Amino acid sequence: MIETEEKLLDESRQGEAIERYSQGPGSNGRKVYIESYGCQMNFSDSEIVASILEKEGYETTKLMQEADIVFVNTCSIREKAEQTVRKRLQSFHQVKKKKPEMIIGVLGCMAERMKAKLLDEEKLVDLVVGPDAYRNLPDLVNEVDGGRKAVNVILSKEETYGDISPVRLGGNGVTAFVSITRGCDNMCTFCVVPFTRGRERSRDPETIVEEVKQLAENGYKEVTLLGQNVDSYLWYGGGPKKEFDKLSEEEQKRSVNFAQLMELVAQVDRKVRIRFSTSHPKDMTDDVLHVMAKHDNICKYIHLPFQSGNSRVLELMNRGYTREWYLNRVEAIKRIIPDCAISADIIAGFCSETEEEHQDTLSLMEEVKYHFSYMFKYSERPNTLAQRKFEDDVPEADKQRRLSEIIALQQKHSHEQLKKDIGKTYEVLVEGVSKKSDQELYGRNTHNSVVVFPRKNYKAGDYVMVKVHDCTSATLMGEAIA
Ligand code: 5AD
Ligand code: SF4
Repeated sequence: MIETEEKLLDESRQGEAIERYSQGPGSNGRKVYIESYGCQMNFSDSEIVASILEKEGYETTKLMQEADIVFVNTCSIREKAEQTVRKRLQSFHQVKKKKPEMIIGVLGCMAERMKAKLLDEEKLVDLVVGPDAYRNLPDLVNEVDGGRKAVNVILSKEETYGDISPVRLGGNGVTAFVSITRGCDNMCTFCVVPFTRGRERSRDPETIVEEVKQLAENGYKEVTLLGQNVDSYLWYGGGPKKEFDKLSEEEQKRSVNFAQLMELVAQVDRKVRIRFSTSHPKDMTDDVLHVMAKHDNICKYIHLPFQSGNSRVLELMNRGYTREWYLNRVEAIKRIIPDCAISADIIAGFCSETEEEHQDTLSLMEEVKYHFSYMFKYSERPNTLAQRKFEDDVPEADKQRRLSEIIALQQKHSHEQLKKDIGKTYEVLVEGVSKKSDQELYGRNTHNSVVVFPRKNYKAGDYVMVKVHDCTSATLMGEAIA
């Protein structure tokens, strides 16, 4: 399975509009259209935004044409992501020329990064709201109603939206995301996230367990716990991230770490599968791996970005681990959970990366043999340490060639990994009807591999035992066995 930069914004979900339309008793008659870009966290945040607005009587719509308010939940991770959003804002601006009363708002990372510049310089929007200010949205819309432009990009050290029950939007009714941490304290030198999403904080485990219970009661069968670095989850009573040994005795006693949280969540309902993303190699403990091995309903799949296979480049990236440390973590996964799929994020052509260092990335891929990877060319982001201190000096043609080599190798490994599954039987959670044929269903096995098989009488939400008889480099094909 391959995801290139172009595909990262998963075409099936990119710019996806919310598909849940309700008109509650307290409706104020105004309709909101939300389009989301970027990572899963953004899609999850849009569900929080919808919940906040529904409480105030707004309805959500999937039709931009009938919306009174258009929100674009944006991504800043690479320049290309921002360009996509800009184009979209320009086209909304054209619509607004004919419909001046329509409000256009930018939410998320680009709002946070560009702040009022989006109002002043680009003049495309009425409202700019950062990821920690969504509770303020109804008031900000009121301000715009009063003829003013509105901005709130204040980042918080506490906000987790823990008490907000997200409105499940555009989903399949089978799989859902639950965020467990917000922000990131890691300061990888290439990454804009610590600036756009602020300090890392963990959400109250009680609210997480409660949300998973609600999902189980509503028929959901799979929950993905989300955070920029789930392994550093640590609840001690609320507030910014602290290391365990910096907590008071009292805080240590009531603290819950990621391994303990997984234990709690896995026990909510054995029929609900648990996934999580993203793991960080410097923080992933053996405890987490043991919890994964112990619980059948925790999927045997870990997304463990390595970014570069060379220790000098990793140091420049401020990743907090070496190539050897990373390989040691992979060895621990293979020892504790022998049949675990691993996927990665990889960056080609980071500042000063030599040809030999690029070869180290390829050789690390050879050693691990990932099931899947997200692969990117380095894209310089304003205000990051890399932008301020290092030169973006790998020529574009070299970056592109290195990326192509990484993609080709990943394609080969994905195919090799899936070929190993031929003849095996997997429990597949059905997510829906295959895009290619309505006579086929698709779902995923524990490794997060997509499995397609003849429909018979099965339906979305069923667990089906499927024997694999063929594969491409991205998909397993099989047959349900009784
Ligand atoms: N350029 C290219 N890729 C980046 N990523 C983050 N910042 C950048 C950047 N400036 C990638 C990393 C990260 C993933 C979410 O996006 O691989 O793990
Ligand atoms: Fe960015 Fe690094 Fe944080 Fe991931 S861990 S969000 S790459 S700073």
